[in-house]
Amino acid sequence: MLNELLKRRVLMILGKGGVGRTTISAALGLAASRGGARVCVIEYDNRAPLAAVLGIEPSYEPVEAAPGMSLIALEGARTLSEYLHIVMPSPAILRTVLSSRLYSYFVPAAPGLRELIMIGKLYHEIERRPADLPPWDLVIFDGPASGQALDLLRMPLTADQIFGGSIVGREARNVANFLRDRSRCAAVQVATGDPLTVSETIEFYGALADIGMRPAAVIFNRKLTMPFGRAAIDRLARSIGDGNGAQRAPLIRRARRLADAAARNDRARKTLRDQCGPLIEVEDQSAARGRALIEVLAAEFAQLMSQPESQTIERPRA
Ligand SMILES: Nc1ncnc2c1ncn2[C@@H]1O[C@H](COP(=O)(O)OP(=O)(O)OP(=O)(O)O)[C@@H](O)[C@H]1O
Ligand SMILES: [Mg+2]
Repeated sequence: MLNELLKRRVLMILGKGGVGRTTISAALGLAASRGGARVCVIEYDNRAPLAAVLGIEPSYEPVEAAPGMSLIALEGARTLSEYLHIVMPSPAILRTVLSSRLYSYFVPAAPGLRELIMIGKLYHEIERRPADLPPWDLVIFDGPASGQALDLLRMPLTADQIFGGSIVGREARNVANFLRDRSRCAAVQVATGDPLTVSETIEFYGALADIGMRPAAVIFNRKLTMPFGRAAIDRLARSIGDGNGAQRAPLIRRARRLADAAARNDRARKTLRDQCGPLIEVEDQSAARGRALIEVLAAEFAQLMSQPESQTIERPRA
């Protein structure tokens, strides 16, 4: 499944706040670039956490953050005028637009326009990259959390209707069509086993399907595994009896808690697989943080990429 996903030109990494979208975007980017692809990761977050963790300055123009992997940070304030520079190659027209009363009235009054422009940048990196620069094989978009992502993804459709045949309307239609082209662009939900996350992921799956962007896969992050289950721990507890109970009891309690958490995590994966399509599973790596965490997950993805397809696909049940 992962190799199937990586054939797309754009992966939209979506999901509930805090599930690991940014970490997964970076790890996927590193794994794909190490596999030989020219990758661009675009981070939407104004705080530009990815630029910080990769040790580069956030920039609207791509900056190489690792061999074969560049990063764009869509910092809101600068984006609009820079985008207009791209879509309006004529400086005269651009000056007229920027100084027009319509523009100064419209931009603060229509926050949706800013969103349109941010999502438009993604389209531009694929479709309008200057001819003298090599194209990206893969653009990974580290999107905002679910609710905001829906506003962002709906915007090109809305703008197409509002702006009609104008330059903005035409661009919006191109972007909307691109986002819905499943052969080139895949929405990927990141989820964890947390019950609230599972229900939000199912709801978000439906909402994305409603706007023509049914997700291609779920990356199940922070998978918990336990080599033995609750029953085995209970058997062990019975077999060692009460001798040294004071020392053993906390250990047995902890083992039971971990086994229960792993069992809940198993059920969450089954629910998501049944309702939201194929899962790509990534282990919980609580010992690692920051760049080290990204590296560990990149190695997990690299391993999945090297496996034959039958081992990585987990198809939803009929
Ligand atoms: N597989 C993992 N194992 C352990 N910790 C993880 C894993 N994935 C992510 N984390 C941790 O979870 C936290 C949230 O990760 P991250 O910032 O990538 O999430 P996000 O979805 O981008 O959050 P936000 O909604 O704030 O943008 C971080 O502290 C990160 O280190
Ligand atoms: Mg993030």
